[in-house]
Amino acid sequence: MIILAFESTCDETAVAVVRDGRTVLSDAILSQADMHALYGGVVPEIASRKHVEAIAGLADQALAEAGITKKDVDAVAVSYAPGLIGAVLVGVSFAKSVAYALHVPLIPVHHIRGHIAANYLAFPDLQPPFLALAISGGNTLIVDVKDYTDMEILGSTRDDAAGECFDKAARVLGLPYPGGKPMDQLAQQSQGGKYDLPRAHVSGCELDMSFSGLKTAVVNLAHNAQQKGEELDAAALAHDFTRAVSDELVPRAIAAAKQSGHTVMAAAGGVAANSMIRADLEEACRREGIMLYLPPLKLCGDNGAMIGSQAYYEYLAGKTAALDLNAYATMDLSETDA
Ligand code: KG4
Repeated sequence: MIILAFESTCDETAVAVVRDGRTVLSDAILSQADMHALYGGVVPEIASRKHVEAIAGLADQALAEAGITKKDVDAVAVSYAPGLIGAVLVGVSFAKSVAYALHVPLIPVHHIRGHIAANYLAFPDLQPPFLALAISGGNTLIVDVKDYTDMEILGSTRDDAAGECFDKAARVLGLPYPGGKPMDQLAQQSQGGKYDLPRAHVSGCELDMSFSGLKTAVVNLAHNAQQKGEELDAAALAHDFTRAVSDELVPRAIAAAKQSGHTVMAAAGGVAANSMIRADLEEACRREGIMLYLPPLKLCGDNGAMIGSQAYYEYLAGKTAALDLNAYATMDLSETDA
């Protein structure tokens, strides 16, 4: 089954062609990050307008790179939640038009389910059940993936997402948006151990996380240093900050795996590209006898292929949408009935 998949929930317009949920025939992506970097973060209206400009050209590019034509498309998939609503609406409207014109089914895909499915593209042997640690710019979730379309959230952030925290901390260190990758590179230049940053604990919910205190601590450190005219050791701060994020994520993911009896774990989302978090996950999983799947860096960030992969399994589960499908800024990944 050949699926043409659309992704436009944030600042990447992406269109991919995926066969049977596992084989990527093409994966065309246009990132707007450079544009938003001028403002230090994503400007929602600019994001929507850039998606409007890019999406048709990327669809043509994806079809051409896959070596197929429109008549070879068996279904159209779209990331319909969660995300910046104006941005998501562009992908949803365009995908609906394509499904309407081609007389093929329309498959709605939850964006975070897509991130988790990126692992199916990288690892042909991976099948549910497993535990997923989904860490992106807008979401931080520990998910019990019981089956391809049956998922339960075991833990989540109570405030900021891990990626958002990376982006804000990077900004106060003067790094460009999106800050995760430059923070990662900077952190590698230091052994850290210089800044004492907080680790949060959500009382009564040991699998839930919080990043706002950590974000505020980094912002305060930077402002205090500025006011006193002191120089910050930016590399050490990047290292200690990343260690604090990792300390929030990794032990909870391990605890969730133990509690739910999973012996397989998969990471997902843009923050899963972080080298320290990857190394910490590898070490912890090795210690606990958990089989760990870490997607290649290019499948961690937003892309259309992951939407095409998850869409295949949504289709097999009978989850298609009518042409009155709407877009949603927020949605629990365990309740996705369109
Ligand atoms: O998954 P993604 O591309 O978009 C969302 O669905 O949100 O994630 C983007 C986030 C940004 O916050 C970015 O700074 C972060 O992923 N990120 C990283 C790294 N690469 C990207 N964070 C930490 N370390 C990285 N190497």
